[in-house]
Amino acid sequence: MNVIRPHRWVVVTAPTDRGDDPRGQLGSALDALRERHPDTVFRTAVLGGSGPSITVALDEAATSGATEIVVISGQTMLDRKIDAWFRRVIGHWLRERGTDAPDIRLAPPLSDTTDYADLLDAAIAGPTTPARTTTAPLTSPAWDEIPGFTRHVLVCRGPRCSARGGPETAEALDAALEARDLGDDDVLVTQTGCMFPCTQAPVVAVYPDNSWYAGLTADRVDRFVDQHLVEGRPITEWRGARRESAILES
Ligand code: FES
Repeated sequence: MNVIRPHRWVVVTAPTDRGDDPRGQLGSALDALRERHPDTVFRTAVLGGSGPSITVALDEAATSGATEIVVISGQTMLDRKIDAWFRRVIGHWLRERGTDAPDIRLAPPLSDTTDYADLLDAAIAGPTTPARTTTAPLTSPAWDEIPGFTRHVLVCRGPRCSARGGPETAEALDAALEARDLGDDDVLVTQTGCMFPCTQAPVVAVYPDNSWYAGLTADRVDRFVDQHLVEGRPITEWRGARRESAILES
């Protein structure tokens, strides 16, 4: 019988630092768990990459009145670097939240708590499917040409920027470009892994202008798009601190 914990949330991160869940396996697993534990709220989150970040999921849980949040790293093989950042991001969120933070529990790594050999054995036992040559190719007419953009905007979705406003910035940028009818042939946006100056999160860079922005939060995006991307005037007061060896001046 399930123990009723009406204020319990479980947040499970995607298995990689890029937020990949290509076949929706994590989503399906959580659907099954929702049936088994109807009194618990389950959410997926990413450490880095596209999708709601851990901090966004924790904010949502806290706002909804969760008193206990269990966070599980979805890695099935332990990568110590990802594990360290996973803990750091949650520690950062707790510090920012202060005394009203709910109780956060970290689940042990999945590779420690499951019998991995049994998992592999079950996979070998099947049902297996034959590999085919009819699967989609690695090329497509849609990918033949580089888009005709004038500016390439890199939005950092590394673990630190993802914990400190990167997802909201990326979302606001998409909305602002769409509202101004700017597509890939005008401004090409790419979400990246860590771009290095994590302290300046959320970090955004614009090329070929060689302009790097620090603290480009969602509330700054409209001005950024209008002034820099539309009018071509970089916002110098939002520029990130940079080492002098930079080849070009932004
Ligand atoms: S995570 Fe964005 S610069 Fe490192």
